Amino acid sequence: MKNIVVLISGRGSNLQAIAKVCAAEAWNARVAAVISNRADAAGRDVAAAMGIATEVVDHHGFASREAFDANLATAIERHAPDVLVLAGFMRILTPAFVRRFEGRMVNVHPSLLPAFAGLHTHRRVLQAGCKLSGATVHFVTPELDHGPIIAQAVVPVLADDTEMSLAERVLAAEHRLYPMAVGWLVQGSLRVADGVVRHRAGAAQLLS
Ligand code: GAR
Repeated sequence: MKNIVVLISGRGSNLQAIAKVCAAEAWNARVAAVISNRADAAGRDVAAAMGIATEVVDHHGFASREAFDANLATAIERHAPDVLVLAGFMRILTPAFVRRFEGRMVNVHPSLLPAFAGLHTHRRVLQAGCKLSGATVHFVTPELDHGPIIAQAVVPVLADDTEMSLAERVLAAEHRLYPMAVGWLVQGSLRVADGVVRHRAGAAQLLS
């Protein structure tokens, strides 16, 4: 049985989507723990309602990013993670932390990376007049919102979209995309060559 550890900072809807599909498809895996850097993250209630243990490692309690990351890593390692999932975890991670979990740590970002890395994604997509947006699941590397792309989902940008309506459409796509990608990781279905991720059996890595 593989252990999935999920890091959150907020709502936890991607955590919920992953845990649901993990149970529904009877993966040989379980969400062993949810760790939040905020005590008030709503996703902690989501986890508790699904019977998943939660912990808080509050970044305010540490003098430096390095000290926070070292404590976070210790908390994570206690659950012997095979896969570490960042699901709306809004902290920049130190290179030492990333190296420790590289190859088994993934993130979801609400844009078609490498476009629109960073914050205020939907606002910037609308300001740029893009007609297409989406979500990306990628392996985490030291550079923020970069790293080999596992899968992407595309959604249209509509003429009357607001930041909120676009965010909703992208989030719904994330809820299909992220469980699929984490499932592949758990099942060992991916290989990476020269920074490019391929599904071993050729499954489509694009959702539309
Ligand atoms: C998601 O839209 C995710 O793509 C985004 O935070 C939201 C978390 O929602 N992550 C990032 O922007 C990371 N750069 P959730 O807490 O409901 O899963």
